[in-house]
Amino acid sequence: MRRIPRLAVQSTDVKKTMNNKLKRRDFMDLSAGALMASAVTPKSAAAAQAGSSRPIRLGFVGVGDRGSYHLDIALGIEGVEIPAVCDINPAVLHRAKRWVEESGRPAPRLYGRGRTDFERLCAEEDLAAVICATSWKPHAAIMLASMRNGTNAVCEVPLIQTLEEAWEIVETHESTGKWATLGFKSVNSTFTNIVHQGILGDIIHCEAGYVHDLRLVKFDPEREPWRLQHSVNRNGNLYPDHPTCALLPVMDVNHGDRFDHLVSMSSRAVMLNQYAELFFGPDHPYATQEMKQGDYNCTLLRTAKGKMYTLNFDTNTPHPRGLYRIQGTKGVFFRSRGDRGVHLSRRDQSGARVGAGGGVPEGAPAPSPEGLLRARGWLAGREARRPSGEGPGAPSRAPPPAPTGAPG
Ligand SMILES: NC(=O)c1ccc[n+]([C@@H]2O[C@H](COP(=O)([O-])OP(=O)(O)OC[C@H]3O[C@@H](n4cnc5c(N)ncnc54)[C@H](O)[C@@H]3O)[C@@H](O)[C@H]2O)c1
Repeated sequence: MRRIPRLAVQSTDVKKTMNNKLKRRDFMDLSAGALMASAVTPKSAAAAQAGSSRPIRLGFVGVGDRGSYHLDIALGIEGVEIPAVCDINPAVLHRAKRWVEESGRPAPRLYGRGRTDFERLCAEEDLAAVICATSWKPHAAIMLASMRNGTNAVCEVPLIQTLEEAWEIVETHESTGKWATLGFKSVNSTFTNIVHQGILGDIIHCEAGYVHDLRLVKFDPEREPWRLQHSVNRNGNLYPDHPTCALLPVMDVNHGDRFDHLVSMSSRAVMLNQYAELFFGPDHPYATQEMKQGDYNCTLLRTAKGKMYTLNFDTNTPHPRGLYRIQGTKGVFFRSRGDRGVHLSRRDQSGARVGAGGGVPEGAPAPSPEGLLRARGWLAGREARRPSGEGPGAPSRAPPPAPTGAPG
């Protein structure tokens, strides 16, 4: 196995940048694992710390929900330029352009000629980094296009879908000297400090997972149903990065130890069919469409030095989010959000609510997925952040279309 360089990451809250204009030096102090800081090459970071006035030029590919969050952060940072934006959806592409202009920066060049137009952006633009927040399928191709054109790249999770893509990223890094990295706050300094100070003794077992009820998002009428399509076509742990990156330093993986065994299995799949039947009726194709992704997946990993890692993946059932358990010879660190013995979805009881925080009164008729998203402030939040006046092709509000075959 090839050695992966040690991460140097500080704990920093990227969200704090949302409402404050950052000074260039503050920007450089952000976590090296956080998106914007990752986007800066060592050369430009050094120049910035030396007080250079050279701007940091970022190109965005994918400015939907998460990409617009990252763009919003970038626009709050002094010294960052956004010369280019790419998206296949004209509505969000023009929204991004408007945000950039409203921030007082020149209008970005827009790349919206189709699913591979990111290649043109990578070839034509002179950038410090490409920031990718598209749906999963094009992630590796965008990273590779960026590196091959001499630009570092930052990607939302997951960076790759196949082992072949992983090797191609590694080999392209080796041949170009450019890097592709995940763009999120990955290392948890609390866990790392507790473990590295020996408080828990020697680590025996860790447990974590991506446990996040995403049924609303999978059926969100305002976006491409790409997440849903992955559940139709694939089975396994499709989202291992969040919890694993937080725990790699705790388990010394790639720093003296390494994973060498893995077994993964999934439960049956019932939740998405039930959801479609409830909201779109028994005749909607998703009510009966076979879903390959089991509602719960568990992957057990073991390191060469005998540490176990239980990695959970569940985006379909009602549950509170997030569990971390780090078991050592002297004690255990245990953290669970919504730490209650029983967590029930009200929808399962009365049909009037979905998951935690639905906000619909008892006894009210079951709202549409769009209504639930509004009740939770998600659609309202997105619109309120940058009001009205989008470009052509306003987002669809219809139920998600019937399954198409390939995940996005
Ligand atoms: N780190 C986190 O906490 C976090 C949170 C949410 C989402 N994410 C990740 O962010 C990514 C985006 O998720 P999202 O919720 O914003 O999805 P989204 O569907 O809202 O946005 C994806 C955008 O990518 C665009 N797109 C798709 N294919 C493209 C292509 N070939 N070229 C250009 N644009 C393309 C779409 O039009 C859309 O605007 C995913 O990888 C997701 O897993 C991470």
